[in-house]
Amino acid sequence: MKTVLRVFLYLIIFVSVAIVGFVCFIQLRGIPKYEVDKIDYPQVQSDSDLVANGMKIASVQCIVCHRGTDGKLSGRLLQELPPEFGEVHSANITQSKEHGIGKWTDAEIAYLLRTGVKPDGQYLPVYMPKFPHASEYDMKSIIAFLRSATPYVQASEIPKVSSKPSFLTKFLCFVAFKKIPYPTAPIAQPDTTNLVEFGHYLVTGRYDCYPCHSADFKTLNMEFPEKTSGYCGGGNKMITLDGKDRFTANITSDEETGLGRWTLDDFSNAMLHSKNKAGKTLREPMLPYNGMTETEVKSIWAYLQTVPKIKNVVDRKWEQD
Ligand code: HEC
Ligand code: HEC
Repeated sequence: MKTVLRVFLYLIIFVSVAIVGFVCFIQLRGIPKYEVDKIDYPQVQSDSDLVANGMKIASVQCIVCHRGTDGKLSGRLLQELPPEFGEVHSANITQSKEHGIGKWTDAEIAYLLRTGVKPDGQYLPVYMPKFPHASEYDMKSIIAFLRSATPYVQASEIPKVSSKPSFLTKFLCFVAFKKIPYPTAPIAQPDTTNLVEFGHYLVTGRYDCYPCHSADFKTLNMEFPEKTSGYCGGGNKMITLDGKDRFTANITSDEETGLGRWTLDDFSNAMLHSKNKAGKTLREPMLPYNGMTETEVKSIWAYLQTVPKIKNVVDRKWEQD
């Protein structure tokens, strides 16, 4: 009996030491660094079309998170992120050479946006989105926007505040979130006359609807979006600016719990005028997409019809507002 007890005790000590060791390892490892590949990326030759397209993309992809107290993209505390990710501050991405990204080359920006890895090798966790599927044209547009004369990106001297990622974020960077490989060939602009293909691109590339609209940021798969758990089925818990829980809608075409009974007109009204089928105004953090073209709206709608339906009742908590 005594031997059994002793073995049991040793086992407990062994397991405890292993757990403590693992926790220390993850804490000390922190957010990993990666090797930075040399990429061939000529400097973007900007023009007004590129800047306009970049502005349109940035207004729903970058400005929301990076706009600071001075109105420029000087960074801020992202209090709408679930606190389990830690204390997260978006960075100053204005043209300031000291506090922003004024010294970065176009190649360094493209590399970070696609792979998640900064010029010094530092990886940015899930709260900075990656754009591995953006077409070359859209990528150049974002860069042209960052280099443009628009007030958002003029040098702001507000220093960047470092994020304090939680243990969970560090752990997720160990098991799930890793550097995304840089594409081996330039990504062409999708065929805009093929509505489903173009819509797929908009949902997973240009506008990134699926990260918010799938089950959870923790199970996001940015490299292979459709492998994200509960892809487009909603239910992801977001936090409103005044601290309330708000769950994203199921945008698959399930009749009972998704958009199955909506028409293209209903969807268009949601996208362009932020109204849902019942006439309710869609609340933050759903973004206003009023700059979308009719073709974009039609394409997203056509693509959503092809996404596997998910039955998922989402508590929209309308009554609380
Ligand atoms: C969901 C919020 C979010 C969105 C959307 C977002 N970012 Fe970020 N971004 C962050 C956060 C948070 C960090 C800082 C992470 C850290 O350092 O811990 C960051 C960091 C960066 C950095 C690194 C800056 C530095 O000096 O370390 C660049 C460059 C950047 N973002 C550019 C962009 C661009 C361009 C877009 C739009 C295409 C964009 N981001 C969209 C949240 C976001
Ligand atoms: C930052 C997160 C976020 C992003 C990005 C986002 N959404 Fe939403 N969306 C939400 C939230 C949250 C709601 C629920 C709003 C509410 O309950 O008032 C919502 C609601 C909706 C609705 C209303 C559905 C209903 O049943 O009322 C539609 C349609 C929709 N989103 C489509 C999209 C599409 C298409 C995209 C990409 C172009 C997109 N969303 C991008 C967060 C997001």
